Amino acid sequence: MGFGTIVRHRLGRLEIPAAELYRALFISLDRLGRQIAGLSDPKRILEIGCGDGALAQRLTTVYPAAEYLGIDPAPTAGRLYRGDPARAQFRCQDTAALVAQQPDPFDLVVVVDVLHHVRATERPALLRHAAGLTAVDGLLLVKEWARDRPVAGRLAYWADRYVTGDREVDFLTEAQLLALLHEQLPQFGVTRHRPVPPWRENILFTLGRTTDSPASAGPPVA
Ligand SMILES: C[S@@+](CC[C@H](N)C(=O)[O-])C[C@H]1O[C@@H](n2cnc3c(N)ncnc32)[C@H](O)[C@@H]1O
Repeated sequence: MGFGTIVRHRLGRLEIPAAELYRALFISLDRLGRQIAGLSDPKRILEIGCGDGALAQRLTTVYPAAEYLGIDPAPTAGRLYRGDPARAQFRCQDTAALVAQQPDPFDLVVVVDVLHHVRATERPALLRHAAGLTAVDGLLLVKEWARDRPVAGRLAYWADRYVTGDREVDFLTEAQLLALLHEQLPQFGVTRHRPVPPWRENILFTLGRTTDSPASAGPPVA
């Protein structure tokens, strides 16, 4: 557990505002929630690597009629979620365990700020599981911090390495991310959207199944 996590856990009722403030240094989750809402209209949402539930809070707000399931290997999955408990379910579970349960596919599968916490050797399986859990006409959404600019790249690395406490954190460049998505999910077309504020490092990709066209990532569209 990183020193940031230890400090946060001791903050009591100030923990959520502190966690929100810290995260806002890197990404506006409100803006991300609104951007996602403009892309699809799901009935069932799966978030892989849901963490404490910060994004869950936004997703259940922008999609008031959808069912949400968040999974995370960490036992604290959804710990800070304060939305309607009837609308969201959190499980301490990895993608392999969920796939083994053969749930109905989800209309929207979300993987936000997770891949850089996953070992390079395990990313292909996670992405393939995510794809397998996505409905035929559903959308898979991957948001990552791209380490193309040296200073911003170091900033994110130091934050995750020393504040979050992930010793193996490993950010990819945008080109590496695209290559990974194309390689692992050739049956999906990839669309790159506008960066999520406040950093242009926050790259949002959506992936939808294509029937005949090769996977592609054009210029940002939304
Ligand atoms: C930065 S948090 C993101 C939380 C949430 N998606 C959000 O944006 O608020 C990254 C999460 O990825 C989770 N994670 C790490 N390895 C994972 C894996 N192999 N499968 C799923 N989640 C994983 C971590 O436990 C952590 O909760």
